[in-house]
Amino acid sequence: MQENALSMKEIEDLGYYDFMSHLGVPYFHVGGLTSTERLAELCRINKDSKVLMVGCGTGFSACFVAQSFGCSVVGVDIAEVSIRKAKERAEALGLGERVEFRMGDAYDLPFEPDTFDVVITEFVSQFLDANRAFREFVRVLKPGGMVGINEMYRDRNIPQASEEEIMEAERIFGEITQLPFSLPSSEDWGQWLQNAELSDVQVHKNKVSVSVKDLKLMSKSMGGFGKFARLFMSLMVGMTRYTLASKKIRNRFRQLSKGKRILMRNRSTSKHVGYVLAVGRKV
Ligand SMILES: C[S@@+](CC[C@H](N)C(=O)[O-])C[C@H]1O[C@@H](n2cnc3c(N)ncnc32)[C@H](O)[C@@H]1O
Repeated sequence: MQENALSMKEIEDLGYYDFMSHLGVPYFHVGGLTSTERLAELCRINKDSKVLMVGCGTGFSACFVAQSFGCSVVGVDIAEVSIRKAKERAEALGLGERVEFRMGDAYDLPFEPDTFDVVITEFVSQFLDANRAFREFVRVLKPGGMVGINEMYRDRNIPQASEEEIMEAERIFGEITQLPFSLPSSEDWGQWLQNAELSDVQVHKNKVSVSVKDLKLMSKSMGGFGKFARLFMSLMVGMTRYTLASKKIRNRFRQLSKGKRILMRNRSTSKHVGYVLAVGRKV
């Protein structure tokens, strides 16, 4: 697929994450690179670690982890455009053989057992049957290796009105991504890691916010404030162009912003939602 030559119809028909990658969105998880850095620390990543990032998207976090910790990283995703963008990113950053991207499904990882020291997902396991996926992550982990996840949670037993709004956001994200989406509780995440026979499970709850540190890390990872500002401008231009040109894409953005408002901005609902950084160790 030659991206530059895509017609509007082909762009409209891209899957949600391929479309966002085509647009140039660098990553799709809350907590930014600060959460990625914290998760890597919880997984005890060092320069000798061999890390697998499942659902790596455009490889922004994978390249950041490889650069910050000096480790090697393999990223897999089912979205073709995302993987192409990830390869371009690694090449532009000169990460050479330390970082590799390829198509791959979380349920059927294209690797031998006991291959990796760490397996990470950021905003991916929430779209998966976690019990099934975590067993597959454990299969490719070496004994003593760590699974680390950054995924959203929601509180249980909340007022009916908030419950209904959050269910509406879940419906919206399921519809636009065409992936099953419902938010588990933080306790569910812990239980699912334990079900995969991981030990020393830790679940840290966090609230969605953007910090100055995030913005600095993001700008540094992009090669400076100038590049960061240019990416922001090009995203604005791309979004405006597609919003004007396509009713289908316009509706998608409208839905997306409604879902985000419910989960991240409306006080009555967002106070019941956050993200976990959770880890467990293969015995
Ligand atoms: C919310 S995005 C997160 C991307 C990336 N981890 C990040 O933080 O920017 C979810 C990603 O999971 C990928 N994905 C969904 N189901 C998958 C599966 N079964 N196997 C591998 N990747 C999957 C999607 O294609 C998408 O790139």
